[in-house]
Amino acid sequence: MHQHDAATEELTEAIVRYAVARVRLDPPLDHAASAAELLAHTGNTVTEDGLGGLEALRLFREVLAPATISVDHPKFLSFVPAAPTEASILFDLVVGASSIYAGSWMEGAGAVFAENQALRWLADLAGLPDSAGGVFVSGGTNGNLSALIAARHQWRQKSMGSNDRARGLIITSGGAHSSIASAARAMDADVLVVATHDPARLDGASLEVCVNTMSYHDRSRVFAIVATSGTTNAGIIDDLEGAGRVANEMGAWFHVDGAYGAAALCSPTQRPKFAGIERCDSFIVDPHKWLFAPFDCCALIYRDPAVARAAHTQHAGYLDVLHDDAAADVEWNPSDYAHHLSRRARGLPFWFSLATHGTRRYAEAIDLTMQLAAKVAGLIREASHVELLLEPELSIVLFRRHGWGPADYQVWSSRELMSGHAFVVPTVWLGETVLRLCFVNPLTTINEVSDILDSLL
Ligand SMILES: Cc1ncc(COP(=O)(O)O)c(C=O)c1O
Repeated sequence: MHQHDAATEELTEAIVRYAVARVRLDPPLDHAASAAELLAHTGNTVTEDGLGGLEALRLFREVLAPATISVDHPKFLSFVPAAPTEASILFDLVVGASSIYAGSWMEGAGAVFAENQALRWLADLAGLPDSAGGVFVSGGTNGNLSALIAARHQWRQKSMGSNDRARGLIITSGGAHSSIASAARAMDADVLVVATHDPARLDGASLEVCVNTMSYHDRSRVFAIVATSGTTNAGIIDDLEGAGRVANEMGAWFHVDGAYGAAALCSPTQRPKFAGIERCDSFIVDPHKWLFAPFDCCALIYRDPAVARAAHTQHAGYLDVLHDDAAADVEWNPSDYAHHLSRRARGLPFWFSLATHGTRRYAEAIDLTMQLAAKVAGLIREASHVELLLEPELSIVLFRRHGWGPADYQVWSSRELMSGHAFVVPTVWLGETVLRLCFVNPLTTINEVSDILDSLL
């Protein structure tokens, strides 16, 4: 099993050929199958004697892969799609082949150094100081949780023990991603949703009213204020300047969840929309969403990484060798900055693509998707069977099909997917079932989207 022989040589060629073809050719859209259907085609694949690599690869190619939707298909416009560059995908193969443990500097220095350069680019875009730093975690959910754990740690430290057993409180907006509530549940903390003038956007004035009307006790429980840039459902960027100012004034940790939208920081035309992000204590952005990297890759960045290190570092006899005090200032152990220990060098495919193409190409690709979203909004405005619900602030377009209810949307959505035409699922906006298109793929064309709109006639 561990020797390289003629059989593994043949398998290597077959696997590399398959992977390279998948990257080069237009991805199929495909769709899910039931477990019973899959079993009928594969049988039990985990057997005492093994199937052999070529047979396992055949089952993957012919049965399993066609039962997975390709997120990089140009007409995958649901949820938040992905559009990894060829360079990032191919380098992901290299990362897998390199057996890197990227939790510590001792074991993964070269990889961690490169990851940190990619993180530095993001920290600079957000206007954070040179001392800022962080780590790539698996996704926005872990990024938000890890940032909030650091925030609570600081709140408890500052209270000199009096909050050690107190239940903390997170203030956020109605547009916050579900992972904020999930983090609060995991941390046994409470969430307060600010009543805002615009139900979809957190603004400084509403936040100020909310904070001023809280009881002294509840105010003392606030350990973080979380703003979103932009929201998953509508791509709305909260008033980061206003929210950040209130958080800074009351001494609460300011976290910005930019899992989807903060990618647009790299575009000079979009950067002004994020004014105030430089006030944050931490922020996240997922390169696996709109920064053209493969799953799973979330950049989590702290203004003061020492707080995160104090909150997250794991101690054990066998690990203490990594935390030699003399080395702590110069060596960066990524494991110390999030709720994890072992980690893949998951930032490397993103770094490789950035190093290959340069940052200007990233700004251009973001601008291309922004222009597409604006053109699609224009098409919808001109058509009589659909109605635009909101001017897109980022690359998400929300609209209704006149006369349709939830069942109509669902039938249409399933038909589009099963025919291999497009993947667009409905969402709920202000209580109404509507359609939502999320653009992150620079290869999606206006003609393709126009076809989708025509199919709604
Ligand atoms: C704003 C926002 N935050 C957090 C998340 C969670 O990210 P992940 O799915 O990578 O855990 C998402 C996912 O879409 C998101 O849009």
